[in-house]
Amino acid sequence: MKSDDTPVAQHNSDRSWRGFWESASSCRLNHAEAEHFIEALQQHVGLEPTWRVLDFGCGFGFTAGLMAPRVASVSVWDSAANMRAHARDHLAPHGNVSFLDLGTGIALPNGVRFDLIVVNSVVQYMSADELAGWLTAWRDGLAPEGRLVLSDLIPRGYDVRRDIPAVLLFSLRRGTLFRALIEGVKEWRRYRQVHRSVSLLTIASEEFAEQARGLGLETEVLPANLSPHPARVSLVLTPG
Ligand SMILES: C[S@@+](CC[C@H](N)C(=O)[O-])C[C@H]1O[C@@H](n2cnc3c(N)ncnc32)[C@H](O)[C@@H]1O
Repeated sequence: MKSDDTPVAQHNSDRSWRGFWESASSCRLNHAEAEHFIEALQQHVGLEPTWRVLDFGCGFGFTAGLMAPRVASVSVWDSAANMRAHARDHLAPHGNVSFLDLGTGIALPNGVRFDLIVVNSVVQYMSADELAGWLTAWRDGLAPEGRLVLSDLIPRGYDVRRDIPAVLLFSLRRGTLFRALIEGVKEWRRYRQVHRSVSLLTIASEEFAEQARGLGLETEVLPANLSPHPARVSLVLTPG
């Protein structure tokens, strides 16, 4: 599970990670993590009732479902059909949520501008080239005062197994430890199997900020990660 050193980010083949998400099943821990994320997002970035939000890589739809009552609209997209199906079920009660269909390209719909684009715990499953492409697309999809939140980024050289104590402590505090152990062990085994052959994309914040600056985006490193993995990093990017 070691990360190695390559410029800005290391390459991975996303096909296997896509396979992982195509057969992922939801667990109580995912919802507790989404609640934590929304509390932290409100504290460090805010959510306004007028905002049009994009939840990119929405997963089971838990974060989108928690944002929906607090903002004007939420658009969601996930590259895995399985996750989109879960999200459709979970988000059905929210009349201000819509599903984008981005297919296999790297572009947002023409002319759509978001006040907030949230990409939480998604970047690590991309290749470096894919991230570079999406960074341009997200920039083009931001309103002039908009902000792009990239969170749960794995720092260069970090070993994700070191997240395990923090995840267990979080589950204990949220009263989900028992279920997290039961439900999480199977998923963790599958995760490790993929990780043995496909690395996760890691980020060097300063180099990444330089890359973003080249695209006209200023980067702020938040004082705390928005997800309950304290060693990971959250960035807010705004048009400069
Ligand atoms: C750990 S889950 C995070 C889900 C959600 N953002 C959250 O905070 O709960 C990662 C999600 O990213 C999605 N994903 C991975 N690569 C993606 C890509 N290139 N484009 C869109 N979604 C992607 C996966 O299918 C999966 O649903």
